Amino acid sequence: MKSAKKLASATRNQRLLRAARKAMQHAYAPYSQFRVGAALLTSDGKIVAGCNVENASYGMTNCAERTAIFAAIAQSGPWLNIRAIAVVNDQGVPCSPCGACRQVIYEFGPDAMVFFQSSKGWKESHITELLPEGFRLK
Ligand code: THU
Repeated sequence: MKSAKKLASATRNQRLLRAARKAMQHAYAPYSQFRVGAALLTSDGKIVAGCNVENASYGMTNCAERTAIFAAIAQSGPWLNIRAIAVVNDQGVPCSPCGACRQVIYEFGPDAMVFFQSSKGWKESHITELLPEGFRLK
């Protein structure tokens, strides 16, 4: 039988996946055709989602994870604490957060769990597993 802790994280991940899939429908991805959605759970229990927003100047693209994080701050202020964040894409392929997003997740969630599709299926990793020695200014 599954432990209560595992059940709780499975339920949380399912809720995050649902919100991420919904946000993914809003992606602006005319260049890559790769639609991504992300949803995060804050320490006060809110779920906030985002999608990727591309640009003709490719480097200006904002990933779904960062869109969700910036939206959460815009909605509720700078005291964001991310408990968990999930990422989905419309092609059902492995997709873990890019390096830039890992650093941004770490800024607001040094103890965050990240739920994503890896090459070996769905995986839940602690942010510090994905980003060892993340940068902090103090
Ligand atoms: N992308 C994300 O939004 N999140 C990820 O975790 C990986 C990549 C986006 C950026 C770009 O719009 C598209 O996927 C292809 O790289």
